Parts: sequence; structure tokens; C-alpha cells
Amino acid sequence: MKPFDTHASADGVWTNLRLAPEALGADAPALDDAAIVVAGGQVTWVGARAALPTEHAHVAQHDGRDALVTPGLVDCHTHLVYGGQRANEFALRLAGATYEEVARAGGGIVSSVRATRAASEDELFALAAPRLQALLREGVCAIEIKSGYGLSLEHERAQLRVARRLGEAFGVTVRTTFLGAHALPPEYAGRSQVYIDLVCQDMLPALAAEGLVDAVDVFCETIGFSLAETEQVFRAAQVLGLPVKLHAEQLSDMGGSALAARHGALSCDHIEHLSAEGIAAMRAAGSVAVLLPGAYYFLRDTHLPPIQALREAGVPMAVSTDHNPGTSPALSLLLMLNMACTLFRLTVPEAVAGVTRHAARALGLQTSHGQIAPGQPANFVLWPLQAVAELAYWLGQHPQPTVVRQGRIAQRP
Ligand code: NIG
Ligand code: FE
Repeated sequence: MKPFDTHASADGVWTNLRLAPEALGADAPALDDAAIVVAGGQVTWVGARAALPTEHAHVAQHDGRDALVTPGLVDCHTHLVYGGQRANEFALRLAGATYEEVARAGGGIVSSVRATRAASEDELFALAAPRLQALLREGVCAIEIKSGYGLSLEHERAQLRVARRLGEAFGVTVRTTFLGAHALPPEYAGRSQVYIDLVCQDMLPALAAEGLVDAVDVFCETIGFSLAETEQVFRAAQVLGLPVKLHAEQLSDMGGSALAARHGALSCDHIEHLSAEGIAAMRAAGSVAVLLPGAYYFLRDTHLPPIQALREAGVPMAVSTDHNPGTSPALSLLLMLNMACTLFRLTVPEAVAGVTRHAARALGLQTSHGQIAPGQPANFVLWPLQAVAELAYWLGQHPQPTVVRQGRIAQRP
């Protein structure tokens, strides 16, 4: 893929398009022979070509060649910036070890912490850039990137700075999430409370003051942090006016989702073990359920998230890669769509909404991403596909779309 080309403006009238269902918002039907007008990098009009206002007739045309169009995709949960890889742990797990056993034996997240701390910011950028490019090739226009492999002020800062740099270098919306409470760093072994105090009193305020934090996350789990520790971090986030989200109910039902919902969480993520109380709390708070089928698959999990109950409760469901070196080394959001459908039994419209509208909401980006609407930045994808279901259907090789990102033609196949 060519580097981001700041000169390829997407301004003008795009015609010969087939809009996918939901592209124009909740429950919007598919629209054949559609047009999109882009001016100054923003969508100014979208609808049936027959209804195109005459003043646009003379504006430069972009022929969409009968492409299927979706909003730009949103990958709302990633740990994209890290050093090293953990294929050895994958092999250990295949030989019988569990994720918890590997973590308790000094592997797991802490082994990625060692490799991340050893890397310079330039090295972390060079490692993360091709990962980001793989996601961008499939039409990702906004991505969340978490810290959590630094676990000290200096190293968390490095991760978040690299995340910001990636957004600028590739012209993609990056939302940074501070995940200082991802694991207990080895130097704080047995002193969990001391570390959480450091996270809340030093690390988070300093990084927020540097403009590096858009949201705050915690790994609430028996091998992560307790409910009380999680709440302490949420309170610190609230003092700074930062929204929260949570790695919740992945391996056990800790009640983290209900706690997060009480704090107005943008999302609760993983949630394989989510309870009925958790669902009710999320519904009341408007939190998004972020489904991570890559981690479910890679850990050979068998405990399904409560999809039908979430559906019945009307909790919006997003789908994301959870790209990370331990539990989901996945670099294809479309493959996650396939897994969300096959493993979790999402319908195709649910899965598509899960990587557009609902994913945008999980990042607080619902007014700028996840649908094609006048007044929003032009982020949309032209797929060389006949059927919307093909987005979730192809396995292992995916169509190369034309991508309009941040008002520019960022990629042509
Ligand atoms: O989202 N569950 C905790 N965090 C990551 C895994 C991190 C790791 O194993 O490195 C996740 O699955
Ligand atoms: Fe994660």
C-alpha cells in the first residue's frame, strides 16, 4: 500500500454506488444507484442519485463502478503497539498449559512488557506500522490503541506517543486508551495496591495532562485487578473527565461490567461470562458490548458470550480484533466478522453494524464515524463485492477496496 497521500482529495460527487444496509444509520435499507457528495473533506449529501441536487451536476465525478459502499470500518479494541511476539506461549498452550498458567509462570502480558520496555519509540513505531497498514487495507478508518505493555510512566507514555504518531503518519483516527492497570508489573509483585495508587495518582494524571489519553481501561480479572482496584482507577478517570471501558468477564464473572456501567462505561469488552445483571446494567447505561471472537478462538474458549440475551436487551454489539500478541494476533477485521457470525451466531447486518456504527459508539465517535452522514468527515469504503454477506464470507483472503479516509482517497486497489 502506498503511504498516505495528502493530495488525493475525495472532494466531488461519487456516483454508481450501491449503499449497504445500515450505511446511512440504524435500520437504513440498502440503496442501489446512490451518490455521495464530498466537499472540504466532509460528506455534504448522500442519497439516491436520482435525487441529487442539480447544483452538484457540474462537480467533479468519481465513478464508483457499481461498488458496494459501507462506512469506514472501526476497530474499537486493539493493543497494537508492543515489542516481541508470543508464539512460544501459543505452542505451550497447545501442549496443555492454560492462559492463566502461562501468566502465573511469568509469561503472558508480563513477557510482552519486557519486550516493549526494551524497544525505543522508533522501534515500536516500526513494528506497529505494518500491523496498522494491514488493518487499513481492509477499510479501517478509525482505531483504538491501548497502552498496557509499558506499566511504568515512561513506558506507557512511549506506547501512547507511538499510537498518536501512527494516527498522524497514516491519516487515520486513533483513539488512545490508557491501560496501565493491565497486569501487575514484576517490580510490584505482592504490592498491588501500591501499583494502583501509582496508576491513579501519578501515571494517569501525567499522561492525561500530556494529551495522550482519550479513555481509561482496566483488566478486571482474577489474574488482573480486583473490582475495588478497578473502581479506584475509574474514579481517577472521572476526576480527569475521561470516559472508561473495561476488559470484563473474559475468564470469570467478576461483576466488572455492572461496575463499569455504573461509571457510564463506553463499553464492556470480551464478556464471555457476562451475567443477566451485567446485561441489565449495560443496557441502562448505554454501554456497548464489544465482542472479541479472535481471542475466544485463539484461546480455544468454549464459553460463549450471552449473544441472544444481549440482542433481546437491545445492547449494541460491536466486533473488534483485540489485536495483541498473547490472545489475538489477528490483523483482519473482516476475519473477525466471519468469526462473529460463525462462532457467536451474529447475523450479517449485526456483524456489519458491529464494525461500523456500534464500534464507533464504543469509542465515543458516533458523531464522526460509523455511518455515512452529511456533516461528518468522509470515511467510506468501496468494495468490489456483489453481496453484503461477502464481507463476512471470504476466509483468509479479502477483497481490496477503495478507501476514502479523512476526506482523502487513501487507497485504490
Ligand atoms: O484483550 N485480557 C487481557 N488483555 C488482552 C490480552 C493481553 C495479552 O495476553 O497480552 C486481551 O485479551
Ligand atoms: Fe484486549
